[in-house]
Amino acid sequence: MSVGKGLFVTFEGGEGAGKSTQIRLLADSLRERGCTVLTTREPGGSPGAEAVRHVLLSGAAQEFGVRMEAILFAAARSDHVEEVIRPALLKGAVVLCDRFMDSSRVYQGVTGNLEPPFIEALERVAVNGVIPDCTIVFDLPASLGLERVRRRANAAEVSAGQEAELDRFEKEELETHEKRREAFLDIARSDPKRCHVVDAAAAASDIAAAVLAIVEPMLPKTGGGPDTEAAQ
Ligand code: TMP
Repeated sequence: MSVGKGLFVTFEGGEGAGKSTQIRLLADSLRERGCTVLTTREPGGSPGAEAVRHVLLSGAAQEFGVRMEAILFAAARSDHVEEVIRPALLKGAVVLCDRFMDSSRVYQGVTGNLEPPFIEALERVAVNGVIPDCTIVFDLPASLGLERVRRRANAAEVSAGQEAELDRFEKEELETHEKRREAFLDIARSDPKRCHVVDAAAAASDIAAAVLAIVEPMLPKTGGGPDTEAAQ
């Protein structure tokens, strides 16, 4: 469902799929075309939601159960939608969001074993009518994605003397990550108008071209105009 004159694009997939890099490349291409672009992420993207992000990804909420975590993801999403995403769309921006409601469907719903009506109810409240116009699903064998995540964590450790710490979700079993891959593909199959699957094992430049080819025909007719201070 379109909100205002903007375009809402979400990026979904398992760990280490390269979404952030591709969001950056797409944002650059769209700005070159004169669009106002806002890049953002979940959990997070607004001050309130970023505070909740730490609680979720550190694992601090894990002991309270998946239901509690799902509600926290929804609370963060609601704040992000109302404070950041909806206002940007109303101004005509192209909003590129790293993860959104499909991550809750997959991580808390499918692999968290929460019943669909509960997930659907949270989703309705959290998104409050702000549904992505387009979702790009980055598909990658889970083993490859996890290998990338571990390599990234090790590089961070070497360069900054940090702990090679994986987050609460990255630490889970390979089998769980494989189930998530299948669940994202199921969502894409069930909603082909909104979802587009790209091969995240391809070369970065090929993925960037594929993503641009999906998004370009959907750009707002006005072109968005010059960047505003809302754009990151
Ligand atoms: P990321 O910023 O590295 O993608 O980490 C976010 C993690 O949070 C990732 O493991 C997926 C997880 N997540 C959920 O479990 N549910 C959600 O609704 C969202 C947005 C993310």
